[in-house]
This record gives sequence, structure tokens and C-alpha cells, in this order.
Amino acid sequence: MAAHWHLERFYGLAFDDVESLQGYRYGGFAPISLGQEFVNRRYKVIHKLGYGAFSTVWLARDRSNQGLVALKIMQANASSKPSHELAEIHIPRSLHTMLPRIQDLSVDVKDNFKVIMPSGEHQVIVMQMAGPSLFDISDFPSRRLRADLARRVSYQVADALHQMHGAGFVHGDLTTFNILFRVSDSVYGWSDQDIYDNLEQPRSSKVKTRSGEKLAPHEPTYLVAPVSSSKWRNSQGVLQEGVVIADFGQSYFKQPPSDYQPEVALHCMAPEILFDNRAGPEADVWSFGCTIFEIRAGTPLFAWLSDSSSALVKLMVRMFGRLPDPWWAAYEDRNKWFQENGEPKLRSVWEGRTERLEPIFVKLSLEKKLRAIGSTENEERTRSGLGPMIEPKGMALCDEEVQSLGDLLGKMLRYRPEDRITMEEVIRHPWFTARF
Ligand SMILES: Nc1ncnc2c1ncn2[C@@H]1O[C@H](COP(=O)(O)OP(=O)(O)O)[C@@H](O)[C@H]1O
Ligand SMILES: [Mg+2]
Repeated sequence: MAAHWHLERFYGLAFDDVESLQGYRYGGFAPISLGQEFVNRRYKVIHKLGYGAFSTVWLARDRSNQGLVALKIMQANASSKPSHELAEIHIPRSLHTMLPRIQDLSVDVKDNFKVIMPSGEHQVIVMQMAGPSLFDISDFPSRRLRADLARRVSYQVADALHQMHGAGFVHGDLTTFNILFRVSDSVYGWSDQDIYDNLEQPRSSKVKTRSGEKLAPHEPTYLVAPVSSSKWRNSQGVLQEGVVIADFGQSYFKQPPSDYQPEVALHCMAPEILFDNRAGPEADVWSFGCTIFEIRAGTPLFAWLSDSSSALVKLMVRMFGRLPDPWWAAYEDRNKWFQENGEPKLRSVWEGRTERLEPIFVKLSLEKKLRAIGSTENEERTRSGLGPMIEPKGMALCDEEVQSLGDLLGKMLRYRPEDRITMEEVIRHPWFTARF
């Protein structure tokens, strides 16, 4: 639908890694230009870092100390709450004051202000600048991190999440989009020219209407591509081999706010969100289980499914069997694919005159998924020139790791939230520290 609307009003857009133009409406994204300044010229936009469902994120210089910062510019419709109620501001701040040991593991919020634009009034959050997300680094087709690095960053996230849960915080949106690599300390002192030399000049694409009609004031005159993941990956010494958790927009402390609506990306969504619309620390454990798999494999555990929750449940049942009651009865498509006991339906096949029954699809298993890592045909072709963080071609997991990681993920991905292990147990699991 979104693409259709683009085609009608705009043409000639050059990038696929940018926010949808449909987000630029009154109440939507702010139309930002490179060079734009905020707060009496204190902050100046110099590059683009990324975007999400609710914001675009820009690299800016803070002229008060010449350092580099990230500006998260929220959609106007997501900016109406007072800042002390906005989770992406108050949660990271509370984390940093309450949990001194988390400071290296979660993005720091330095400042926030509001700005009025033709698109409405926008909340702007000034954050510590970080690098690309885990998703950006290992994007399609299935590049994955070096095995030791995958375990190290998984452990860092486990450590942060363990501390958060211990203090009563829920993250609520744990995915590879929201875990970012840290940049090396020297990067904060870079000049604009250093940024262009070490990464790249911003690439922009002019926005043109098909009809020749003038752009509305809330529509941007060009879109800017974020620093590309290959530039980040291949620049020596720019990224640290460590991560920070970002995006606390779905986070809460102790109790979810009364208007709380769980929103984590579908492929990481726990069954209690799908069926009961509730998300506590156990839902973080489920999302983190999916995320650990994705970090190690370079591809999601449950494939990208656009927005079909029924397709996701089908994958869950194929892998873990029948859902507990009353969720099983609430899963409308169950009779289409499964028998009452959760096994795939059978169909008859004729061999000569004998009829045989066979399942309509094969069952999935964590073990099969883990054994498939590193054994796909295109391994050779997709692994060259990807920089030191990426796993060399064709490296499968050894039997001990398949067993160990299968054990960890199996316990994190139990259907019933009360049956899942807690972060207390996750963090002590041998997968993080074993020698494989
Ligand atoms: N501090 C930061 N430094 C660098 N890039 C960032 C930072 N914060 C966010 N980003 C980039 O912008 C994207 C969107 O930010 P996020 O906080 O996840 O917004 P949303 O709430 O809209 O999903 C992230 O996936 C990441 O690529
Ligand atoms: Mg996000």
C-alpha cells in the first residue's frame, strides 16, 4: 500500500534503505536538511544515522563542545507527551542514575528539546552517537558476525538486560535493530572532513512529484541515506567490538503505563503479546532468545513475515508443537495446518496402488536451524571483503555449540512466560563462556 502511494505521488527515489516517504505527512517525520541547526545554532546536522517507525536519527555536531551526537527526531504524533513521560527519555536516564554498571551498555541521553516544523511539533532527543545496528551489520544475505564476537555482544546484551530486570525495568522492543555497535572514542573528536573520509559523504536523492506539483512544506526536498553498513564495517578502528542497547520507546519501570501497547517487531514477539496483549520481563527473554539466534545465524529464527501474526504462530507450532490452552483454541488457522495434537496435518500419497499418509510440511527444530548455519550454498560468494567483524565463509557450529545454544534457546523460548528461564539463569548459561 505504501509503495503504491509513493508511485502515485513521487518518482525517481534512489535508495531502499531510507524511511518511507509516506511517513512525511502532517504529524509524521520532520523534513530535515543537512546543515540544519537547532537550539540557537548549538546543534548542526551533518549526516544521517538511521530511522525507525517513530523517528529519523541524524549525526550532528554539538557546538558547545564540538563533539558528535545523535539527534533522534521523533514523529510529531509521537511527541505530544511531556518529556518526563516519554519513555525514550526518562528510561535511559533512570538506567544511568540507578545502575552505574549499565553505563557502557545502554545509550546515554544528553539533552532534549522541542522544535516546531511545518510537520508539527517534534521532540528531539540528543543521544550519545553510536554505530550501526546488529541488523545493519549482518544484513541480507545472511552475513553473520564472527562467532566469538556474536557471543561477546550477546553476553553484553544479557548483562544489560539482567541488570534492567533486576531493577524492575522492561525493555519491550529487543531486536537486532535496537542494539548498536559502539564507536571508538576517537570518533567523537572527528571533524566533518574526517567523517567524509573515514565513512562517506551523505548521499541524497531529490524528491520529485510525478505531477510536477510543488512539494508541501512538510515534505522533504530530498531523502538522505544513512551511513552505509559496508562503510562502517570496512573502516579500520572505527567501531568497537562492543554494543549498547538503544530505543527505550517501549520500555517501562515496574508497571506499564495505562496506555501501554506492546509493539515489538513481529518476528521477535512473544506468544503472550500475540494472544493476551501483555508484555513483561518474560517477553524480553523471548525476544532476546530470537535475537541471540539472529546474532549467531545472521538470519532471523522466525522469518520476516510482513504483518501476518497467523504466519508467525504457524512457524512457532511447526517448531515447538501445540500451543497451550487457551491459546490453541484462539489460533484460528490451526485446523488448516495442524491436527488437534499440534502435529502437521497428513495428506495421502499414492505409490502404485498403495496409499501412504505423509505430513503436509516438515517440522522445524532449533537443532536443525542451528545445524543449517554456515551450510548454505552461497556461503562462498557472500563472505568476501566484508571486514574483520564478519565470520569467514562456510563455518558451521560444532556439535557442542549446537547442543549448548539449543539448550539455552529452548529454555528462553518456552511458550508459557512462567516456564521460561529468567535473565538470572540466562546470564549463567555456559554458551556465553564455553570454549567451542
Ligand atoms: N544513538 C544512536 N547512534 C547511532 N544511530 C542510532 C542511534 N539511535 C538510533 N540510531 C539509528 O536509528 C535507528 C532508529 O532509532 P530508534 O531509537 O530505534 O528509533 P525508533 O523508536 O523510531 O525505532 C536505529 O535502528 C539506528 O539505526
Ligand atoms: Mg527502533
